[in-house]
Order: sequence, then structure tokens, then C-alpha cells
Amino acid sequence: MNIIRTIRAMTSWSERLRRESVIIGFVPTMGALHDGHRALIQAARRRCDALVVSIFVNQAQFGPREDLTRYPRPIAKDRALCREEGVDVCFEPTADVMYPEGFQTVVTLPEIARRWEGEARPHHFPGVATVVTKLFGMVRPHLALFGQKDYQQAALVRQLVKDLNLGVEIEVRPTVREADGLAMSSRNVYLNADERMVAPWLSRALRTGKQAIEGGMKDGAAIERSMRKAIEQAPAIHVEYLAVCNPDSLEPLSSVTHRAVILGAIRIGSIRLIDNLLVNAPARKSRARR
Ligand code: PAF
Repeated sequence: MNIIRTIRAMTSWSERLRRESVIIGFVPTMGALHDGHRALIQAARRRCDALVVSIFVNQAQFGPREDLTRYPRPIAKDRALCREEGVDVCFEPTADVMYPEGFQTVVTLPEIARRWEGEARPHHFPGVATVVTKLFGMVRPHLALFGQKDYQQAALVRQLVKDLNLGVEIEVRPTVREADGLAMSSRNVYLNADERMVAPWLSRALRTGKQAIEGGMKDGAAIERSMRKAIEQAPAIHVEYLAVCNPDSLEPLSSVTHRAVILGAIRIGSIRLIDNLLVNAPARKSRARR
């Protein structure tokens, strides 16, 4: 496996392969890789001839009081996972490679980034959109894979690629979960034993919402109430939002008649967790013909 740190080396590697019609897959990460990343890498491996994983803890997507300095950076373990999965290049740019002196341009966000995480973490999506655009320019992949766990991020990246004609196919892969339903995340390592016990209540609340929709409940507000009622049983959880939304626009749905995404964010102490579920409302019974 090659470890590449400079843009020039990364781009010339990709350009050489592109000239040979090699299909390049890309999994962008901030490291602290877990089985969710592994699933993305494996899916990319199945579809592509060559595979790049980037590891870059992007300071631009952290707010001033967020966890940038304590974000886990187990680089030796991350490289080992990449080697195990047959990754060809681990791209590890440093902060001054990514944001050299004089760097000025920031990608302005589409409407889809306004609510939910956009509201709770105003620095986050401008940083994500900018770094993803830069990484695509450096890695020049044909295909890039993202996890559904960060649903709004994936929707934002899709919109970005479409609006800015970035020419990268985006594939979003299902969330990988622990046995008790907790969505895998690099930040789960922050949870102490008590917090870890209550963390799966977020996915339980989302499942309550999903079951309500599948059982025929349509009223968005009532579905949200049922989820809040479910999570109230758990101690020490502060709900930031639990919302039933249109899966494309991410606008809240007053009535769920087709597909929906249920988005949730909670805080347990100082730790913030997000998760989501896609749901199909039951098909309407067609009226019997006379
Ligand atoms: O999902 C992540 O790990 C990050 O937001 C990403 C896409 C690698 C950009 O820094």
C-alpha cells in the first residue's frame, strides 16, 4: 500500500491510472476507522480496480468548542485496516497541504444543508463541502462512497457533485450497527460505560418512528411525539431533534404518504450522536373497481 502525503504525488498517481482506463474508487475519512468504514472500503473494492482512502482530520468542519484536539488519531491501526482490505493508496495530507497560507475559497452551501446538523453545527457543512471538493480534485476518483449514518452529509455531497459538475459518482452505503443497534461512529469511543448503555436509545426511538409509519401512522407531529415518548424512558439523554422528513429535500413532513427519512440527534453529557432511518409508508390500498 502506498502512503501519499502530497497533492502532486496523489494527482499524478490518479492521472496515470486514468490514462490506463483504471476505475478509481475513493473513501474519504477522518481516520479512527471502524467496521462502517470497512464496509465502505469493501463495497468500493467490489466496484473499482484501484482504491484510495484518505485520512485527514479536517479542522475546517469543527466548531471552536468542538472536539478537534481530542478527535482519535490511531494512524497505525487505520493503516493496518486499509492494508487488510487491499487499499492501494492511503492519502494522508497534512493541514498545511490542505489549507496552505493564502487559502481563501469556501464552498457555499445548498438549501439541503440549512436545517438539522446545519443549524446545530454552523461550521460543519461549509468545512465538509470545501474539503470534499478539494479531495475530489486531488484524488480524481470515478466513484466515492459515503455512509448513510451521516445522511445529511451524503445528501449535501450529492447536491455538490451535481451543482458543481464534479464528475464523481456517489454511492451511499447502509449504516453499520453494533449488536444493540448503536450506529458505528468514530466518536463512540468517547462514551463511558454508563453513556454507552443508554446510547442505543437513539436507534430505538428511530425504530419506534419507523414502526409507527409502517403501521399506518401518517401525522408527522404524532410520529415525532411517539419517538420522544420512547426516548424519555432513557436517563441522561437530551434530544436535539427527532424529525420525520422528505428524504430528498430534508424538509419536515406533516404527513407521511410515501418515503421518509427519520433523522435524530441527541446529547449524552458532552457527547453528541446522530442517526437516521429510511422508511416506506405502506402502499395505499387501491379502491375496488365497480
Ligand atoms: O464523514 C467524514 O468522515 C468527513 O465528514 C469527511 C467526508 C471525510 C470530510 O472530512
